[in-house]
Amino acid sequence: MKRVTFARLPSDRAGPIIRDLMGREYVDLHAKIGKDEKFRYVPILPEYIDTVGSMGIEMIEGDAHTLDRRSPQEKIHDILTGYPELDGMIPEKWEYVGDIVIVKMDPRCRQYKDLIGRTYAEVLGAKTVCADVMGVSGEFRQPSMEIIYGTETESVRLENGIRYGFDVTKVMFASGNTDERMRMRKLDCTGETVVDMFAGIGYFTLPLAKYSCARRVFACEKNPESYQFLCRNIRDNELTGKVIPILSDNRNLLGMHFADRILMGYVQTTSEFVPKALSMIRPGGIIHYHDTFYVNEYEDRIRSIFDSNCGEDGYEILRIHEVKSYAPSVSHYVADIRIRPSRQNPMQ
Ligand SMILES: C[S@@+](CC[C@H](N)C(=O)[O-])C[C@H]1O[C@@H](n2cnc3c(N)ncnc32)[C@H](O)[C@@H]1O
Repeated sequence: MKRVTFARLPSDRAGPIIRDLMGREYVDLHAKIGKDEKFRYVPILPEYIDTVGSMGIEMIEGDAHTLDRRSPQEKIHDILTGYPELDGMIPEKWEYVGDIVIVKMDPRCRQYKDLIGRTYAEVLGAKTVCADVMGVSGEFRQPSMEIIYGTETESVRLENGIRYGFDVTKVMFASGNTDERMRMRKLDCTGETVVDMFAGIGYFTLPLAKYSCARRVFACEKNPESYQFLCRNIRDNELTGKVIPILSDNRNLLGMHFADRILMGYVQTTSEFVPKALSMIRPGGIIHYHDTFYVNEYEDRIRSIFDSNCGEDGYEILRIHEVKSYAPSVSHYVADIRIRPSRQNPMQ
């Protein structure tokens, strides 16, 4: 509670007056507005008590409940204020995966990791706090996380009506790809057979299978740990039978030109997998090709990859879209490529 001066306003006329006082910034936002049957009690900042009184409004003194209007960042700073050596190094951003929080931690803060973990858990209400130490690496794009508070590392991220369950210390989740996951949900794939060559835990497979009216999605994943979450997510999103999970290197998939659409949600070495995609796509089918390029040369590079794999006339670029910035002057792009029906089909 705190001692304040209230503007006492008759309830039936209070609305516009409160809005006016708020607009003039006369109201103390750290104290709660009170009410009883007849009146509203609006706490006024000390420097405006006379001004508001001179507006013909009745002023009375009383006790107000306080409101903590500090942002989470401010609360974290206030708790850690006794550690000036952390100045400028406290993580300002974090990401939620359900009730797990992931922070990017400055390596210079390492000796304070327990304190930082506890502080973030308390302010943000997290069961576990993990520090992202080195981003993702390797063929399986595995994260490098250090648990700095709590023990449980599995959670569920809810996004666009999909449940993505995974272990944040074992499997990556690119929050920057949200728009692309949303786009997969909005595609019209009525009756199509789709192949996701790099399915992971179902990043693109799940929204596409759930909403795009595809007939069947073959979701191929090489990492057994991701595959387990993929299978669980297929079940939890009620897509059993529609999504067929395959634990394999996608280079072992059969060609046979059976797919209407292929997702190649991988970057940096994606071009190595184009011959396999071309062996699976049917004439007229679409490949969603992801890769990273310098921003001033992405279109030329995409053309050169597809020119060399299916000839200049064998494909058409429907759209190229920047998914996210990846590094200075480098972005992650997705190109929608239609394979021309006229392209010579090696199976015929
Ligand atoms: C992590 S995802 C990439 C990001 C994802 N597209 C997104 O939107 O966040 C790539 C997945 O492809 C899998 N992978 C890599 N090489 C593979 C291959 N040759 N065959 C099948 N899966 C592969 C990795 O294990 C990983 O789970």
